[in-house]
Amino acid sequence: MTNVKMKVNGKEVSREVPDETLLSEFLREQLRLTGTHIGCDTSQCGACAVHVNGKVVKACTALAVSLDGADVTTIEGLANGELHPMQVAFNDNHGLQCGFCTPGMIMAGVDMVNRYKAEGRDLTSDAIRHELEGNICRCTGYHNIVKSIEDAAAKM
Ligand code: FES
Ligand code: FES
Repeated sequence: MTNVKMKVNGKEVSREVPDETLLSEFLREQLRLTGTHIGCDTSQCGACAVHVNGKVVKACTALAVSLDGADVTTIEGLANGELHPMQVAFNDNHGLQCGFCTPGMIMAGVDMVNRYKAEGRDLTSDAIRHELEGNICRCTGYHNIVKSIEDAAAKM
């Protein structure tokens, strides 16, 4: 067991956890932040995507103890009083069907927009499709997901 301290969605948290605890388990089971979904056991689906120190990470691929002191944002922490532009865009463009992949898609979308803007690069629909290769939507809603991210990119 190891004591892990992190900042999650702006709040300091501290828990004693088994060393093998994944970040996804830490968020869901210790903190009850169940918006971070677990959709596979192979690190392929991206439903568990969160931001760690400002960059998108698959929470099922990181051990909680390796992130002591990290700054983590989950889908629950993205809205700041009002919905984040990426959340609004998914709603406006029908970017979600069952919603299972949506938290991971949104966290990945925010990361890619931030990254492309910081690098002064154009986030084209082809680039969005390429960037989303680590996120699987089983409802096959990719067309509207790409539209949603393009829409949000214009407003972020
Ligand atoms: S649950 Fe993490 S990639 Fe599928
Ligand atoms: S909206 Fe259902 S899995 Fe993507």
